[in-house]
Amino acid sequence: MSAKRPSGNVIFDNRDRIVIVTGGSMGIGQAITHAFAQSNARVYVADVNPPSHEQQPDNKSVTYLRCDTASEADCKAVVRKVVEEQGAVDVLVNNAAIQPPGSYHPIDRVPPEVWQRMIDVNLCGYQRMAAAVLPHMKRQHSGVIINLASGQAHRTAREVGVYGPIKSANVMQARQWGVEYARDGIRVLSVSPGAINTPMIRASLEEQGGGAALGNRHPIGRIGEPHEVASAVLWLTSDAASFVTATDLEVDGGLGSFGAFADPYPTPR
Ligand SMILES: NC(=O)c1ccc[n+]([C@@H]2O[C@H](COP(=O)([O-])OP(=O)(O)OC[C@H]3O[C@@H](n4cnc5c(N)ncnc54)[C@H](O)[C@@H]3O)[C@@H](O)[C@H]2O)c1
Repeated sequence: MSAKRPSGNVIFDNRDRIVIVTGGSMGIGQAITHAFAQSNARVYVADVNPPSHEQQPDNKSVTYLRCDTASEADCKAVVRKVVEEQGAVDVLVNNAAIQPPGSYHPIDRVPPEVWQRMIDVNLCGYQRMAAAVLPHMKRQHSGVIINLASGQAHRTAREVGVYGPIKSANVMQARQWGVEYARDGIRVLSVSPGAINTPMIRASLEEQGGGAALGNRHPIGRIGEPHEVASAVLWLTSDAASFVTATDLEVDGGLGSFGAFADPYPTPR
């Protein structure tokens, strides 16, 4: 076997940047939080649940603030606290979203309270947090907002009739806000992951045909890891992406380009 070739490396420096990550207590949000903290940002996790003990970063630059993004008051209180403490907010990552098992039905069988809660968190939560940080970003004439969307924003599957359309809206929120605030020095983007190894995806593995089958559907041959989404977010929020705004980045191991009509990859033994 030939020796592994060098593959390049990127080191981010987020010193003195003030970052808010919603849903940063676990999964992709937790990886984004760690990546920002490791690159010396000051990070505030706004989550309805605290990070579990073993997931707690040993880094003193991360602060947990309890926040239900379905609550206007909670969202405003988080941003007020961050700005009181730091005088600025440089990055908002809208990541907190839910996909409860009760939503995996055709829409005529999704209980109203389930889809209403998904709208409150997955759609309105993104808007509430963005609306709360934007006045500060406008005053600074700088800032970046990232909406975590999904491959299901772009193409659909059975039984995701609530989750998928809201994810499409998250993409359009980023495009609209990116256009609206471009001349205020603010960039807004969405990131659309394929299947990523998090508690959310592990909870729905059965509905998706099991872990091996789900990984095999991705041309790369596996599902993604949370740090691979975090790397994309760190790049997009950095000045290296200064001419990138009002668009979406799919971080999906090729899944989005693989046609439904294509021969499936052989099942790995
Ligand atoms: N995991 C995947 O494969 C995948 C794929 C595509 C897109 N996404 C998107 O990425 C984001 C993160 O997904 P994940 O898999 O890490 O999710 P997860 O369920 O593992 O973690 C979600 C986090 O959000 C928090 N949260 C839930 N409701 C909240 C609320 N009302 N207010 C504040 N915090 C709340 C939870 O406590 C948790 O810490 C979501 O927007 C999801 O739609 C995930």
